[in-house]
Order: sequence, then structure tokens, then C-alpha cells
Amino acid sequence: MILSPSILAADFKNLGQQIEEADRAGADYIHIDVMDGVFVPSISFGMPVIKSIRSATGKTFDVHLMIVDPIRYVEEFARIGADIITVHFEACKDVKETIDKIHAAGCKAGLSVKPGTPVSEVFPFLDTVDMVLVMTVEPGFGGQKFIDYTMDKIKEVRAEITRRGLKTDVEIDGGVTKENIDEILSAGANVIVAGSAVFKGDISSNVKYFKARTP
Ligand code: DX5
Ligand code: ZN
Repeated sequence: MILSPSILAADFKNLGQQIEEADRAGADYIHIDVMDGVFVPSISFGMPVIKSIRSATGKTFDVHLMIVDPIRYVEEFARIGADIITVHFEACKDVKETIDKIHAAGCKAGLSVKPGTPVSEVFPFLDTVDMVLVMTVEPGFGGQKFIDYTMDKIKEVRAEITRRGLKTDVEIDGGVTKENIDEILSAGANVIVAGSAVFKGDISSNVKYFKARTP
């Protein structure tokens, strides 16, 4: 399992230190939620923050763009240090063109669906994307409860990836807890985003707990 702690739940007054602590404890990626107040109701942070935390860790920057028409900013996110750029199916005018632009910028590409969007919408792009992100809460806020019916979407996309013999990663995001992690891994997710479950409390022991889980 690949653990991607979401800094949305971090204490921003100590952001650099908290990222370093997650890194030292064994986090694989750092999940970075960018929100524009249009695609989702909230606004989080943008380029200057990402640029300044790039020096805090060498871990993979897993950038989750919750913004409309994300193709506009792909090159800039790549330039400031994104390694994986994930865009929303619902937010792209042209999904294929957006994925191609992410790859041309030297990053891995992820494609995400909100809870209400059928996961089959990503099937036509499965062999072009590196990762599918199944949202397991409504995007926009941390600390929400895992939406139970999304468990079937994880199973559905994993089954299709296996059927086609692909290596695509399946990431899930939202409502992960120490209680539901094993079921999520069994359903077929292999990249786990966790915000509150990592940053609220003892970061180091939380990271170690999740990293000790196996599918
Ligand atoms: C929600 C964000 C998530 C969020 C997850 O829109 O995409 O990455 O930080 O937070 P938790 O793990 O607290 O549900
Ligand atoms: Zn996210």
C-alpha cells in the first residue's frame, strides 16, 4: 500500500515540520488538495504554498486538482514540483487532451470521479492514465465520513483494471480511518489518502499504523 497523507488536515502554522514528520515515519506521497471555490465550495491553497513546501521533502507530490478546466495550470504545477497531477473527470473540457498535457509536462496523470459519477466514466481512459482516484467523500472538505456505496466503485474499477491486465493505480480519498482501512485495501485500492487520520494526533504513529496494513 502507498500512503499519501493529505496536508489539508495539517496544522498550517507548522506545515513544514509536519510534512517532515510524515516523511520520516514512512509516508510514500504527500497529497496536496488544490481547491478553487468553483468546482468545490471551498478554497484551500495554491502555487506559493506548494513551491515553498517542495524543499521540506523528497517524497512524491500527489497533487489533487479540484478546479475547473485544470488544463490551464498543468504546466505550472509541474514546474513547481508536482509529480502526479490528478484532475476531475467532471472538470475537464477534454479529458484526453488534459491527460496528454500532464504527461508532456513530465508528470504522472490521475483521473478522479466524485461519488455521484459512475466509475465506468474513466474506463475509456484506463490505459492512458497512471492512476484512478475514486472519491469516497464529496470533494471539498476534510474530516467527512466515508460514503459506503463508494466501496463498490473501488471494486468495479479494480476488476476492470485486472480484466484488461493493466497496472493502473487505484487511489481513494476521504473518510479513511483505522477502522475501515482493511476493507478499503481488500476492495482493491492501493494508494490511500488520509488527512485527519494522519495529521490529527500523533503523526508518526498514525503513519506507521497505516503502513503496517497489507491488502
Ligand atoms: C477532500 C480532499 C481530501 C481530504 C481528505 O476534498 O480531497 O484529500 O483532505 O480528508 P480526510 O482524510 O480527513 O477525509
Ligand atoms: Zn484529495
